[in-house]
Amino acid sequence: MAVALTRAVSPDLNSCELEFLDRTPIDVLRAAEQHRDYERLLESLGLRVISLSAEPALPDSVFVEDPAIVLDEIAVICRPGAASRRSEAASLAHALAPFRKLKYVQSPATIEGGDVMRIGKTLYAGLSRRTNEEGIRQLADLIQPFGYNVVAVPVLGSLHLKSAICSLGDALLLNPQWIDAHAFESFERIEVAEPWSANVLRVGETVIMPASFPETRRRLETRGYKIATVDISELQKAEAGVTCSSLIFS
Ligand code: GLY
Repeated sequence: MAVALTRAVSPDLNSCELEFLDRTPIDVLRAAEQHRDYERLLESLGLRVISLSAEPALPDSVFVEDPAIVLDEIAVICRPGAASRRSEAASLAHALAPFRKLKYVQSPATIEGGDVMRIGKTLYAGLSRRTNEEGIRQLADLIQPFGYNVVAVPVLGSLHLKSAICSLGDALLLNPQWIDAHAFESFERIEVAEPWSANVLRVGETVIMPASFPETRRRLETRGYKIATVDISELQKAEAGVTCSSLIFS
């Protein structure tokens, strides 16, 4: 059974990092309920959810996708571009150690998992405010022995690559305003109807997306995708999507 590793919401979520959104008050209790609903949805789709305890001193630590990249063979422990997020890596590495051999990205590299989209043996890595060229170079070195290659993608207008583009399985959902999409020209592509709605999470035959994007949802349903929505409105004030709150692996 595949695992979804998650972490409970920090009570200090209001001190989260923000890149493109203005700060607005977050109802942390409601954010925690929404996160539990997200975990229940993952469970209902057949995943074994391993929920780690909250890290009260680490505001963004619910977003477990960013400090690690889990592949079939290894887990790469990242060095987040946001300095306040670097301490998240240690406890996540501890949680991943029973499942994968760990490899580490070193300073001056910065890289966050939200910038990394895997399609087969290719990892598309966003060159963003959080991930630098050295981060992408070190990632490529670490995973090349396992047959992976890395393609750098300039991220122009969003926090992470996966804020702007995600895999639907047989196609990509993207906001072409936010990335240089040249690397994806050979793929079937669907453009979002709402700017923030490209971040979706495919689990089995289901595509999970936030409840707040009805137009993109309609666009996907018209094409035959099975959609499950989850209300993450409080977490979205922290620039969250649906991929960033779990690490899913077999
Ligand atoms: N608040 C999510 C992040 O900026 O990393």
